[in-house]
Amino acid sequence: MEITRPRGTRDFLFEEMKKRKEVERTLKRVFETYGYHEIKTPIFEDLKLFTLKSGEEIVKQIYHFKDKANRDLALRPELTAPAARLYLNELRKHPKPIKMYYYGSCFRYERPQAGRFRQFWQFGCELMGAESPQAEAEVIALAVHCLRELGLKEYKLHIGHLGILRGLLEDAGIRGGSQDRIMGLIDKGDVQELKLHLERIEADENMKSLLLSIIGMEGGLGVLENVEKMVGGCEPALESIDDLRELIRLLDDFKVEDYNLDLGIARGLDYYTGIVFEIYVPSLGAQKQICGGGTYNLIELFSGEKIQSTGFAFGFDRLVAALKKQKDELFQFAKVFVAPVSDSTRPPAYRIVQELREEGIPSDVDLSGRKLRKILSYADHLNVEKVILVGERDLKEGKVTIKDMKTGSQELVEIDKIIEYLKEE
Ligand code: HAM
Repeated sequence: MEITRPRGTRDFLFEEMKKRKEVERTLKRVFETYGYHEIKTPIFEDLKLFTLKSGEEIVKQIYHFKDKANRDLALRPELTAPAARLYLNELRKHPKPIKMYYYGSCFRYERPQAGRFRQFWQFGCELMGAESPQAEAEVIALAVHCLRELGLKEYKLHIGHLGILRGLLEDAGIRGGSQDRIMGLIDKGDVQELKLHLERIEADENMKSLLLSIIGMEGGLGVLENVEKMVGGCEPALESIDDLRELIRLLDDFKVEDYNLDLGIARGLDYYTGIVFEIYVPSLGAQKQICGGGTYNLIELFSGEKIQSTGFAFGFDRLVAALKKQKDELFQFAKVFVAPVSDSTRPPAYRIVQELREEGIPSDVDLSGRKLRKILSYADHLNVEKVILVGERDLKEGKVTIKDMKTGSQELVEIDKIIEYLKEE
């Protein structure tokens, strides 16, 4: 009987893990440079944490189960609600703002496809208790800074504000669940179903055409002037447009130059209240969104305490996929391979490899008692840069032969100069 992996999950092999660790290290470094500190929360939580205000789509996708004591639990579909719970349980008295970041796996029962999994990883942050446009600007700057440090070249930052669409719907008397449903359809980009839904609820014709044109609006600052004329006297929408203007001014100070205002961003989670943003890598195709975030009042929803927060999460798997697409590096298991030419030179070969490792040079040695020809072909498979041939004749002179695997050239090097030689190379 063959036991297979559950649908929508993956195994990660050496090369992939190495890349993932490298990306994880870079992100940790950049988040910490901005004053964020890591938190860790449980993989499963009380189901209620996610059903309260996360949105219809996410709730449908939750993996939930009852434990042996009949408690309703859920595998976390995201980490913002757990971070808000952690704040309420542990950090209420902590001076604000509080900057936290996290890295961990999330679970959503979705239809798997390229870039969309049932278990995936998020690397994200929450800035809690800073109600200001400069807090939002700094959060966006952090996301962009991470991508710059990772060397990602082609990405697009889209910024919007939920207050414009929600303000118009509110003015038209569309509130609560009905409003959330419309936002969900906009987020999915399902214009067909959106039109049908607006007809079904007999939405006002003017509002309908206004809504449909606003969701298609994107570009530079000019977009704000146009939409300002369109929303007329809708106060919440006008306030949101001012918020966006202020944010854009600040982004310049935080050195974020490339952005696209996009009034069609609705976000799939219902807890957002203001500025929202998403980052896309077009070459990833349908699942091109590598980052999503915005401003929310989840803590207020849970406890009544008014703590405005802003945050975002990178879809870690998509981020790694985008980086790999950009540059497919040849994977290297070790830099140097030490090859005993005959059985009698095995002991000195082991001593040499241990010395290299003590110096932090990733190196390997033959452990299978193979003949030289086989050793060399194995070293080739590991993609090493150099092979150190340990032969009897060379040893008598206190030397080894170092072969460059790329050029094929060989050099005799004194044993106590090997490290110096490799470091120079
Ligand atoms: P989200 O947009 O639902 O936001 O997810 C963040 C990112 O996770 C997405 O942009 C995407 O790259 C990745 N992602 C989502 N679902 C999948 C999946 N099935 N497979 C692979 N990657 C996926 C949130 O979760 C919010 N908690 C972000 C946030 C933090 N907002 C404020 N703070």
